[in-house]
Amino acid sequence: MMTSKVLDYLRERADKWITIEAIACGTGLVSGDIINAIDKLSQQGYMIDNSPSYGFRFSGVAGALNADLIEQGLLTKRVGSGVIVFDNTDSTNNIAKYYADDPDADGLAIFAEHQNAGKGRQDRNWCDIHGKSILCSILLRLPPDQQQVINGQSLSLLAGVAVADAVRFCFDIDVRIKWPNDVMVNGKKLAGVMVQSVSCDDCLAYIIGIGINCQQGDDDFDDEVRDIAVSIRQLIKKNIDRVNLAQELLCSLDIWLGDIVDGRTEKLHNRWLSYCDDINRRMTLVCDGHEFTGRIIDVSVSDGLIMQLDTGGVKAFNPDHSSVKKD
Ligand code: BTN
Repeated sequence: MMTSKVLDYLRERADKWITIEAIACGTGLVSGDIINAIDKLSQQGYMIDNSPSYGFRFSGVAGALNADLIEQGLLTKRVGSGVIVFDNTDSTNNIAKYYADDPDADGLAIFAEHQNAGKGRQDRNWCDIHGKSILCSILLRLPPDQQQVINGQSLSLLAGVAVADAVRFCFDIDVRIKWPNDVMVNGKKLAGVMVQSVSCDDCLAYIIGIGINCQQGDDDFDDEVRDIAVSIRQLIKKNIDRVNLAQELLCSLDIWLGDIVDGRTEKLHNRWLSYCDDINRRMTLVCDGHEFTGRIIDVSVSDGLIMQLDTGGVKAFNPDHSSVKKD
């Protein structure tokens, strides 16, 4: 608790020298506790400079993700009920699947520094370089009453919004969402989300898989994606605190999940629309192999993107079955 208080205080003042008196005043802690907390944070990998004249300076970034750091001070109710970090795995979605039958695993968040077989939507690969991304899967085990209000479509919307909120909150980046849930900046992809359902012994489970480009430089993207992908570091031109982003992401997912479980879906609907530039745009979507062209008029939290078809009528498109037609 004391450590996370000091961490929060320093994080908000990153890159500035702060005297121990100011930290004591801001946190209500005595100097002995502050020094112990700073020692602990340094041991955990945070870079905190110490000067007899100026005090302390938090230069931010824990070198690696680790479960203790992510759990430290995490105030979520459900998402992040457990946190596991792998240095290397095939896919965090596979690990989440492995836990799907465990009654205690609802909300489990699995992170990896590297995936050998990361998966994207529509059977694509999701490639990464060790330590440069947030690669995470959240397992949700829905009891029967929640199966009425939550489905893959609503989780897909929710996850896109949660990623967008977390990135905006941490870095003040103007993110947009491209349907179904690509998080974009200036037309380039910053993050991707996929939602999978898994049937388990006693419930219906969903896995929300999220990949966020964080620390990549120009040479870290493969040739095929270099012109269409972007990382947070490329945007803000400095190293980023992935632990802080991971925590914000879990918090944001948790809050939106609470909202939809309690029936506040209109809030999610409005937030998604505020991030989306597709409304009123003409598009061609492919659904189960058939093409549909028309004007996008809305999104439904439970049913998907809604198009006024050129051929007449209105159709909802669910991300499981549909995608935007490539030119
Ligand atoms: C997309 O295609 O845009 C969705 C990409 C989702 C990638 C993430 S990375 C963590 C999780 N594990 C995976 O294998 N995939 C998802």
